Amino acid sequence: MNMEHAIGQIKTYINTFILECQNEHISALCKHLQYGKMLRSKLLLAISGVSEEALRVCALIEMIQNASLLHDDVIDNASTRRGDLSINARFGNKNAIMLGDVLYSKAFYELSKLDMNIAQSVSLAVTRLSIGEIEDVRLSNGFHTNREAYINMCSLKTAALIVAAAESGAILKGLDKDIYSTYGENLGIAFQIIDDILDITQDSSTLGKPSMSDFREGKTTLPYMDLYECLQKDKQEMLLSYYAKNLSPKEEEWIKTQMQDNDIIAKSLQCAKNFADKALQAIASQDNQTLRDMITQMLDRRS
Ligand code: IPE
Ligand code: IPE
Ligand code: MG
Ligand code: MG
Ligand code: MG
Repeated sequence: MNMEHAIGQIKTYINTFILECQNEHISALCKHLQYGKMLRSKLLLAISGVSEEALRVCALIEMIQNASLLHDDVIDNASTRRGDLSINARFGNKNAIMLGDVLYSKAFYELSKLDMNIAQSVSLAVTRLSIGEIEDVRLSNGFHTNREAYINMCSLKTAALIVAAAESGAILKGLDKDIYSTYGENLGIAFQIIDDILDITQDSSTLGKPSMSDFREGKTTLPYMDLYECLQKDKQEMLLSYYAKNLSPKEEEWIKTQMQDNDIIAKSLQCAKNFADKALQAIASQDNQTLRDMITQMLDRRS
């Protein structure tokens, strides 16, 4: 089975799982969920190969990914997702939160039918992801330059589910779980740093979600830390005065110009590349070119 066909099968499983909820309102809300890049499924399948069980695990991981984004868009006040209105924008926060809970719990129900090691890996990931989102909220209380806290938060909110996908693939194939876990951890952190860069460098229509929104929402992502530390005092104060505010196009342009003048994106990208290198080192002994290619694609992605 080729990847395109496998992804089609995963979508069929997701639709089946949702239909099993036997609720017309849930089905109606879910019709507005678009599919994303399905990175976690592609990663799992690149490790395990395609089997019915692997496709089921992919489907429930994508449901968890969807649930986490439904809640994330409420937390981040985001009005678009995957090129469409977000569920919170279309139907309000209450529906978005509860639809997220339905997707989480249905995914856990499916998980309970699978290998206990997979169930534990995926459920631990959801705990870590949720703690990471709480940590993201806590870190949004004020501007900071605590890189360790930022990387730790990326590890929790983003790498955790990617690790679970990689570990699940390894468990299904009988491979060394730790190798793939380390790969997933470093890929995941790099992936979030790239996401934080794209928030600044790309426009909303390319991203399919709001751009320049992290700083407005109080997120001090890596490029903002790097920029702050490069600026002279007067410009540092200017940057701080823009923190967690709705900015005019001119003010946004000022930030982007400072980023360009100080070569900030290249600097943050280098940090992502360092994590990507660690991911590559982790799988150096493994004969899997697809996993190496996924690192390159992740670093090169523009949306
Ligand atoms: C979005 O994840 C949340 C982050 C971890 C940045 P993806 O970028 O994988 O989102 P989709 O599933 O492809 O839409
Ligand atoms: C990732 O953070 C969210 C999750 C891991 C759930 P972001 O808030 O940056 O994700 P996007 O940019 O909205 O996709
Ligand atoms: Mg968000
Ligand atoms: Mg967020
Ligand atoms: Mg983001």
